[in-house]
Amino acid sequence: MTLEIETRCIHSLNHDEKQHPYGAFSIPIYQTAIFSHPGIGESQGYNYTRESNPTRAYLEEIISSLEGAVDTVACSSGMAAITIVSELFKSDDHIICGSDLYGGSTRLFKLQEKKGLHFSYVDTTNLDTIKQAITKQTKAIFIETPSNPTMQISDIQAISQLCKEYHLLLIVDNTFLSPYFQNPLKLGADIVVHSATKFLSGHNDVIAGTVSTHNEQLAQEIRNIAKTVGNTLAPIDCYLLTRGIKTLAIRQERQQENAIQLAKWLKKNPLVKDVYYPGLSDHPGYDIQVKQARGFGSMISFRVVDKEVAKRVLTHVKVITYAESLGGVESLITYPMVQTHSDVDEKTRNELGITDDFLRLSVGIENIKDLIQDLSEAFKNE
Ligand SMILES: Cc1ncc(COP(=O)(O)O)c(C=O)c1O
Repeated sequence: MTLEIETRCIHSLNHDEKQHPYGAFSIPIYQTAIFSHPGIGESQGYNYTRESNPTRAYLEEIISSLEGAVDTVACSSGMAAITIVSELFKSDDHIICGSDLYGGSTRLFKLQEKKGLHFSYVDTTNLDTIKQAITKQTKAIFIETPSNPTMQISDIQAISQLCKEYHLLLIVDNTFLSPYFQNPLKLGADIVVHSATKFLSGHNDVIAGTVSTHNEQLAQEIRNIAKTVGNTLAPIDCYLLTRGIKTLAIRQERQQENAIQLAKWLKKNPLVKDVYYPGLSDHPGYDIQVKQARGFGSMISFRVVDKEVAKRVLTHVKVITYAESLGGVESLITYPMVQTHSDVDEKTRNELGITDDFLRLSVGIENIKDLIQDLSEAFKNE
């Protein structure tokens, strides 16, 4: 039997929910560090929670099924997930990254440079540019699509073919779309990471990350790194994430519906110069987005006429909250230059257009009339 994605957000075919102790219907929170052994050399399936835990195993099964993975490791943040992946590489290895990445990822890669890894940042929307960056030391390509925050779309299938040709791993940070809209492993990627803090959780109440792969050998290496580094996700947070994922499909549909309307409204606003949303047919990545994803998501970036307008909007929204993060049911507005991307060097920020007139919106599930009214009053406020 195969299940559709909406059902797989709620049930795992590998797990009999009716077999929980006492008939408990929700996955129990196994809040224990250790598991007893019935005899010498015997285990009841679990030994120590850093390594594995039944609440975590259930969550990992659900995410593997959503991403089409053989295995997933749930860890303590999106950054923990990217740290696990970076431990796959050794000194002198070279990784090609998209030039537009979450600022925390580039900050982590700077730390990794101290240990002898090398990173190049290139425009991954252009295959020739990627090819030119490949050296004998190159081991992987790391991309976000859509990218945070300029919403660039890279062609996962085309890049994965290039990776096969040059024996490189393709790692995709799928945070901005979630597995509901996009499955990079099915398009040829080797590893998918998520900041599960965002759409997977959906309620801005848990920090979590995931690493998934469909390659058995990589899966073993990733498990070994996670249990050794020890940044796996706590049982209570695994429960919260499992609970959040149950409504992923309906949240994402509603968020996207609101985002499409807001993107069109922003386009008509005379105080807005540019709107970056891959669901607009004039977005340069629109055709690739339609080919590789089942939707456009609910992240919109936009450029206003000047920094005074940007500040006015940020300080006068009432329904929308000025905060970093994204993906939850509540709409948030972010100032990437001073928040999520403040650690990216100024030159790169200017090249990418992450300047003082650039804002990022994570659209929630509120009534669209309230979101439009809120933004329109914030724009007008002097
Ligand atoms: C695309 C992307 N990847 C990774 C991360 C890091 O995730 P976390 O904050 O859960 O560590 C973020 C955080 O905003 C993000 O936007």
